[in-house]
Amino acid sequence: MLLLILGGTTACTNILVTPGASTDHTSQLAYNADSASLYGSLYHYPPTSSSKSPNRDVYDWDSGEFLGRIPESSTTTYNVVGNCNEVGLCIGETTFGGLEDLCETYPGSVIDYGSLIWITLQRSATAREAIVTMDHLMQTYGYASEGESFSIADADEVWINEVIGKGKHELGSVWAAIRIPDGAVSSHANQARITNFDWESSDVMYAEDVMSFAKKIGLLDGAAGKKDFSFSDTYDPVTFEGARFCEGRVWSFFSSVMGEDFEAQYVDYASGKNLTNRMPLYVHPPSKISLLDTFSHMRNHFEGSELAFDEDVGSGAFNLPYRWRPLTWSYGDKNYVNERAIGTQQTGWNFVANIRGSLPKPLQAVIWFGADDSATTVRVPIYAAARELPKSFAGKGPQDGVVPPMMKFDVDSAFYVTNLVSNWAYSRWADIYPVVLDKIVAFEESYLNQLLETDSKIMKLIGVGEKEEAFQVMNNFGVKLGDSFTKSWFSFFGELFVRFRDGYDITANTADPECGCDVGGTGYNDETYARIAKETGDQYLEPGSGGLTGKRWETKNKLKLKSMF
Ligand SMILES: *[C@@H]1O[C@H](CO)[C@@H](O)[C@H](O)[C@H]1NC(C)=O
Repeated sequence: MLLLILGGTTACTNILVTPGASTDHTSQLAYNADSASLYGSLYHYPPTSSSKSPNRDVYDWDSGEFLGRIPESSTTTYNVVGNCNEVGLCIGETTFGGLEDLCETYPGSVIDYGSLIWITLQRSATAREAIVTMDHLMQTYGYASEGESFSIADADEVWINEVIGKGKHELGSVWAAIRIPDGAVSSHANQARITNFDWESSDVMYAEDVMSFAKKIGLLDGAAGKKDFSFSDTYDPVTFEGARFCEGRVWSFFSSVMGEDFEAQYVDYASGKNLTNRMPLYVHPPSKISLLDTFSHMRNHFEGSELAFDEDVGSGAFNLPYRWRPLTWSYGDKNYVNERAIGTQQTGWNFVANIRGSLPKPLQAVIWFGADDSATTVRVPIYAAARELPKSFAGKGPQDGVVPPMMKFDVDSAFYVTNLVSNWAYSRWADIYPVVLDKIVAFEESYLNQLLETDSKIMKLIGVGEKEEAFQVMNNFGVKLGDSFTKSWFSFFGELFVRFRDGYDITANTADPECGCDVGGTGYNDETYARIAKETGDQYLEPGSGGLTGKRWETKNKLKLKSMF
């Protein structure tokens, strides 16, 4: 588990909002795909049919390794854009790993977790159907990944499906899936979260042998009853790391929507100090959650909570809520951790999928896609039924047997342009991020309005039987918006660079004859000055001065003179 987070493999965050918990009665599924080796691109799988090619190659999403070949679907598959399909189904995941013995792959297994997502999206129309398809794929062709929590949403229902392979014992997997009750929200982040469940409920599905397999391999006492069976405690027991690095992120989201009492009740668990005080699988927020709210929850770094890390020495002179990896470190004979927040530098791509049940199928799923850290990128809305994608976002990945262009810097790539802005913001967070955030929010609000206008335009065309034209509008919308975003965001990077160059804050002033600008800047934060004064004694002390007071550098007052020093 620890190796998983430290290494190049994925560790992610999902947030799930049921229609009854949202302001506009839509499903939301938010997903950060976190891995330093993941290139941010939007994948597209156009409809395929077995008459064209009878088989489908399967590659491992993480390693790009060829895993095998399976028969193509006998019916034409659905169009898939990112993690959604054209009939309103979306799937996300986070890896929990689980018991080491079960992470070993049974020889000849073909379906890794990434392929499981994309093949299922090609072949299923609803969340329940997806769960059945996933089971079929895993039990027929073998499951070739570690333990996973999958988020599965359609316009009406939102499910979590937790899966673990059977290791070298048997082909296939065991799993349990629970529907998040309407009106509730859930989340998972690299720790299995399903404990006990109601075996009789029509809103629960499971592999027939989910409990008997555990007995068979000696994980459970033969006499254990169904009532006591806990998926997570059996297959992925919570450790300190599972609580602190993983459940901590769920806690930060749940606390944001539930309030201080929830936060206080589970802080001992989230910080890894009391592993038995487990949080519920889902909560019922007192107020409804909008799409824009969810965008903001995906920008969380524990700010203002007990796990906040934007004020201690590790945050540097600009209150940076990021820590460079590795996630754990040692000093003297002790081991320490960094916090693992939702918004994180190693996110390759992120999205919030929104599924709107009031619209016809092709319009239902919209994937709001960002090509980097979910706290610093704008999400661009793309219809999942679109047949064309913006060039600056579109790409293939290791799951297609293709090595992405990670090593090529390219200002026409959304991934590198968004990385320019985020990495520049990381360098002076307290100064630069507020400007970036304002811009993100303005872009996303404008994109939402444009999407709603385009919805009505498409509905009108469908109403008068102009189906082709409707699809063209749908395609053009994402292509135009995505590529214009990448261009705008690159010029925005230019603006930020001009403004925050060389440690200053340089703003336009046309009345100024020297540079048409005002040069400002506030130096470092007070804590940093305090630390310098404390650690260096009189090295920087002005003779005769009463001592440094921690007051910020005087360019705060925009004294031009200072810019000469
Ligand atoms: C841990 O949490 C459980 C469940 O809330 C509680 O009963 C127990 O007292 C807690 N243990 C400690 C050491 O706080």
